[in-house]
Amino acid sequence: MSIVVKGDKLFHLSTKNTSYVFDVDYSGDLEHDTQHRAYVGNQGVLRHLYFGQRIDNTDDFVFTENFVKWTPAVHSHVDQIMEEFSSFGTLRYKETAMKVVFSDGTKDFRYNYKGHKVNGNCLTVTLEDVHYPLIVELHYEVFEEFDVIKRFVKVYNTGKEEILVERLYSAELGIADDDMQIINFNGAWSSEFQQVSESLKGGKKVFESLGGTVGHVANPSFIVHKNATEDTGEVYYGALAYTGNFKVTAEIPSKVTTYKYTNVLIGMNDNDFCHVLRGGTDFESPAVYIGYTNKGFTDMSHKMHDFCKNEIMPKNFANKPAKVLYNSWYATLFDVVCDEQKKLAKKAADAGVELFVVDDGWFGTRIGEKQGLGDWYVDKNKFPNGLSELVDYVNGLGMEFGIWIEPEMVNENSELYRNHPDWIYRFPNREPLTGRLQYTLNLTKEEVVQYMIESLDNLLSENNVTFIKWDMNRLISETGTCAPGAAACDGNYHEQKEIWYKHIQNFYRVISTIREKHPNVEFECCAGGGARIDYGAMRYFDKFWTSDNTDPIDRMEIQDGYSLLYPIKYMSAWITDDFLAGETRRPPITFRMRCSMCGALGIGNNLNELPDDDLEIIKSHIVEYKRVRDIVQFGKLYRLKNFMRDDFHAVQYVNGNKSVVFTFLLHSRYLTSKYSLKLKGLEENAMYEVKERNGTIKKSGAFLMKYGIDVNMKGDYDSQMIEIEKLA
Ligand code: GLA
Repeated sequence: MSIVVKGDKLFHLSTKNTSYVFDVDYSGDLEHDTQHRAYVGNQGVLRHLYFGQRIDNTDDFVFTENFVKWTPAVHSHVDQIMEEFSSFGTLRYKETAMKVVFSDGTKDFRYNYKGHKVNGNCLTVTLEDVHYPLIVELHYEVFEEFDVIKRFVKVYNTGKEEILVERLYSAELGIADDDMQIINFNGAWSSEFQQVSESLKGGKKVFESLGGTVGHVANPSFIVHKNATEDTGEVYYGALAYTGNFKVTAEIPSKVTTYKYTNVLIGMNDNDFCHVLRGGTDFESPAVYIGYTNKGFTDMSHKMHDFCKNEIMPKNFANKPAKVLYNSWYATLFDVVCDEQKKLAKKAADAGVELFVVDDGWFGTRIGEKQGLGDWYVDKNKFPNGLSELVDYVNGLGMEFGIWIEPEMVNENSELYRNHPDWIYRFPNREPLTGRLQYTLNLTKEEVVQYMIESLDNLLSENNVTFIKWDMNRLISETGTCAPGAAACDGNYHEQKEIWYKHIQNFYRVISTIREKHPNVEFECCAGGGARIDYGAMRYFDKFWTSDNTDPIDRMEIQDGYSLLYPIKYMSAWITDDFLAGETRRPPITFRMRCSMCGALGIGNNLNELPDDDLEIIKSHIVEYKRVRDIVQFGKLYRLKNFMRDDFHAVQYVNGNKSVVFTFLLHSRYLTSKYSLKLKGLEENAMYEVKERNGTIKKSGAFLMKYGIDVNMKGDYDSQMIEIEKLA
């Protein structure tokens, strides 16, 4: 049984290796005659008791005592309790999970526990305000096999008057410890997933996005641990299924009192947010998936990667290997010409590419960043015979055809904008601002949503396009909805604060409608590189474009951060001729290929200009990649070495009887040409064959993992792909 409820007040959720326990605690009532009236009447509080290694005996968690032994008069008693779901108001001064305002101006939610429902692996706990018609449901779903618990919150207005929901995190997670560390990211365009690890010693730490999407700077996830390593230590983690403004807060509410804990909250950002909860309606937060392990970061990654593959990724492609693709962006930029693309396609097909994707520049009057976005029809100057000439040619070469779009955006210089200047976010008396010379379409308008659905549907119905790269190249701003020169924005002050949320809901609606109509089309999610990587987008996309930075050294760092919580099959990795990190660094093509072979391989070089020798190298590596891609994309990942801290970089993938290791050396130092490497994930008692550059060895799994192998690399930018197979 994954959910046990005892005495209608103790909730015990179990996964394969973890337990998650909370109760309704009334003990605070005993105190209210003294210094604090923390609760009123016999209102309980939902108290989080435990999340950690599995403990089976539910009775062990029957506590009648109040955990807070002593509260100095000027402190809040309730701030010292790990709450399952705290709400702004009463004597709460910590970051709370919800804030509501009732129509008479009352701003606190005082609840009674009303009941619960268990349905298979799902638990719903219902809280009801003691006076106002507001019901809050806390939802839990247990994914036993993956050690994951899904949480979300639903609020109901059962009355007539409006209630303002000004904050609604998806979950609050108390961790009964302090001095923890939190990992999130601090990146930028072309440097996504730069890991940041902060000690939580007091105060509050916030990672968030405010630009209407996930952004490059942080990620809607958390990893909280105590000195964990890849293989050891306790790690609490979570990933939010939301592609809009998010907020992750970690706080130690008080370190001086007798009861210490770290409180982690994750959900939609409350910045400029409000949902007007009308009488008789409900509102649901995005879901968050949380987990715990005592075996370090590798175990966390394995569990979340498996969970994504089995539960989140769209089913029609989740179990099919990602095809080797070619993308034209770095080769031709906006200069898309049918004949040139055909030449690229011929070379790509000869090299073993399976999917040919034309990036930006094929539509409207798109000759550069300044124009064309919004006009999703083929540019007749570039394709006088329509897109079908290229599509047929590509298909004739045995490849599938894909195309780039950026449907949420419009340029001022476009037919769409000239016809509908009121279709963008804007304020009435302000000149709208551009980002990358473009505006954001107002997706809260139904006619805009319908236009997007129609134009994408037409594109896919009229052409044999089986792959879409969906981009989003600017952050959202000026979230007003009105016609230019209108007297005021549409909606009232509160409703205008919901635009951020509604945009994302309609983005989900458009892509899911298109996916339903075209189930055989694969979608890649891009936002100026990797600014839209989250578990919400993962439900509708089959790949993430991880970064526009294809420099292999930078890229390995980005891939390392990405891989903590996101699956390798989704990690688009291309080799290109573009070196954003600096014109001075030109690692050899083999080194770059191997870096891209660590994910879902793509080719982005200008094949029309590439020397024949280099093309041959690409071709031979594509052959190798196809041999190992099931191991890379569906196997378990081990981050063995990282050249930010080690002499070389190494990642290993294990799938059943087979394993592959990619090793990378920047420069030999001090005459070293042999690097010792302990492998992981093998069976101790099985025998393996290991094909290393200097020969093949046969050793036991125990030897390979405990003693290790010698990896021979020397010179500048050397690398190896080492294949390992279990012997029968
Ligand atoms: C963004 C993407 C690139 C490319 C360009 C096209 O920058 O990240 O991969 O598609 O847009 O304009």
